[in-house]
Amino acid sequence: MRILLGLLLLNTALFSAEIPAEKLNTLVGALTRLGPEKVNANPRLLEALNKVLDATKGTGRFVEIVSAFKLADRNDELLKLAIANPNNNVGVDSVKVLMSNKGTRLLKGALKRENEGEAISLIEAIGNTVSGSTIPILTVGLDDSKGRTEVRKAAVRSLAKFKQGAQALLDRAKSGEIDSTIRLTAATELNAVRWADVRAQAAELVPLPKGREGTSFAPIAELIKRSGDPKRGQSVFFRETVMCSRCHQVNGVGIDFGPALSEIGTKLSAEALYESILAPNAGILMGYESWTVETKTGDEFYGLLISDTDKTLTIKTVGGILNKVDKSAILRRSKSKLSTMPDGLQQLMSEQDLIDLVEYLKTLKKK
Ligand code: HEC
Repeated sequence: MRILLGLLLLNTALFSAEIPAEKLNTLVGALTRLGPEKVNANPRLLEALNKVLDATKGTGRFVEIVSAFKLADRNDELLKLAIANPNNNVGVDSVKVLMSNKGTRLLKGALKRENEGEAISLIEAIGNTVSGSTIPILTVGLDDSKGRTEVRKAAVRSLAKFKQGAQALLDRAKSGEIDSTIRLTAATELNAVRWADVRAQAAELVPLPKGREGTSFAPIAELIKRSGDPKRGQSVFFRETVMCSRCHQVNGVGIDFGPALSEIGTKLSAEALYESILAPNAGILMGYESWTVETKTGDEFYGLLISDTDKTLTIKTVGGILNKVDKSAILRRSKSKLSTMPDGLQQLMSEQDLIDLVEYLKTLKKK
């Protein structure tokens, strides 16, 4: 009966050049019910599946289907998707599927071969999986055989996104393998991670340059009286080492993780803006509580809890990627009283940077 339904739909699929959207859903449903084994064993069903894949090219749907049917011959397409979408689920899920499709060699090869921009995008996508299993691949970027500085820095940033990766960087620092080209990037990243033990080691092994660390700023009451330059503040906001735009969007630019700040100047006073930056844990916005989910394989997803169903938890990790975790794969989950917005961000800037930054946020008003 099921097979019949499948074949019936198959005819429509094969004899029309394009599959209309509603038919596509039915077809995917039918093929999914038949399951990978039956579909892979039947040439006509496989043909239908390939039609579906052509019709969904470049979308999250495509990645889902490749994953569900355990298709090993689509790795090159997944690789392209990863490079084109480093900061959204299409690309990051592509990397995850590649990893489970024995794509490690392909990924390593691509990092060596691709042009600089593409290698950097790929490294970002890989880092956004926050998975310890990617360390050997990211290490290829870290040691880039062509010695490309930006590729190496991107690898540092990606490794610092998950604890095992951060630890791998520290181990390298211990053995003197963090050279001057990537040292500042490593210092910036590792001194700002959320794992206190990693930060403590980083302060020893790859300290932040003097002048920025430990400088004490004037009290907020004093800061609000100083004048700043909103234009400069905007560049502070988007500066890679200051990190605001890695978690916040302003008018659609930046990464969608924390609340958008496009109208924050209407919502918060200058004083409250300073407080949000200097003491993020003083008050956490409703719905933005932070969660940690550890899996039995040692991966850790840290971020916002988006949904909790019978079978899966969806965690939005810092970086804005949605991660569906099977409940059966979870070892532990816990909610934290601390904000996912790290404290100590002011250490990544000067006092004037901070004043300019707040001046900029004040200009972001409801239109
Ligand atoms: C790792 C992610 C992350 C980074 C980096 C980050 N934030 Fe946040 N931020 C959040 C989250 C999540 C919230 C909401 C939870 C809370 O209130 O703490 C937030 C809240 C805020 C708020 C309050 C928003 C409101 O509607 O009340 C402001 C203002 C803010 N951030 C500014 C900044 C600035 C400026 C920077 C850069 C110096 C920055 N953030 C860096 C994640 C981040």
